[in-house]
Amino acid sequence: MKIIQLSDTHISQLGGATAENLTKFITLINDIDPTLVVHSGDIAILDPDNRGDRAFAHELLQGIQAPLRVIPGNHDVGERPENAWAGLVVTPERLNAFTSTFGPDHWLELVGEWAVIGLNSEIMGSGLPEEHAQWVWLETVVAQVGDRPALVFTHKPVFNPYPQLTEHNIAIPEESRRRLLDVLAGVRLTGFGSGHLHEYAVSTQHIGDAEAVVVSAPATGFAHGGLGGPALAQLGIVEYLLGEGAQRGSVQPFFRNLATLTEVPPTDIAEFAAALEQLGVTL
Ligand SMILES: [Fe+2]
Ligand SMILES: [Fe+2]
Repeated sequence: MKIIQLSDTHISQLGGATAENLTKFITLINDIDPTLVVHSGDIAILDPDNRGDRAFAHELLQGIQAPLRVIPGNHDVGERPENAWAGLVVTPERLNAFTSTFGPDHWLELVGEWAVIGLNSEIMGSGLPEEHAQWVWLETVVAQVGDRPALVFTHKPVFNPYPQLTEHNIAIPEESRRRLLDVLAGVRLTGFGSGHLHEYAVSTQHIGDAEAVVVSAPATGFAHGGLGGPALAQLGIVEYLLGEGAQRGSVQPFFRNLATLTEVPPTDIAEFAAALEQLGVTL
């Protein structure tokens, strides 16, 4: 079975390179014909309060033929107060605006022999009632998953690949990671997929006595490089081949891209500059 993860589309209602790239990736996704598509957040270009960006992104994503599940990124709902980019902190109002457009910000999909879990990483460490509700919900997931192999998707990585970088929130808080693994201790966790870093990387992580595949998805909007460590700072999406039958539980991620993309630094994208100006942010 194939599923697709796309991430960090960063769509502006003004269109431009990120919207054009997403349209091309949607054609590729429809050609691959996956069972499920997961968007791991930063759907909107920069400002979680811009309804027009959100609506246009939603409209573009309607082009995906397979079932689509989305989870929010910091540019969709804000993030925990500590180190929040441009002071954009997650609030109930921003969460409502997101879910009323894209549906639930955390969910469980049982597909084939697999379980796919999507979690809102942006509320982790916020102390909001929505964070508490998600933890309570996660406890109910364990019984529903049963003995199925499971994948977990979040916007921010569960495992911090760059602990030396402290000026931004690179990953979910350590306490949240411990709690997540604790709650899901009875689940066969075979893979983790995240966004936020705008670069593709694959590693493994020991979970109990098994090994899980850990994937950082590339962006479709614009790439970031230079964070350090082995990673590919190139636009793309991730195709996961999930084993069934005798191969049940095996996870193989593949980087997919196209030759026709506009691959430029964000500062060369006019709509990115316009969004920064709207927010009053200078880089
Ligand atoms: Fe992003
Ligand atoms: Fe992000």
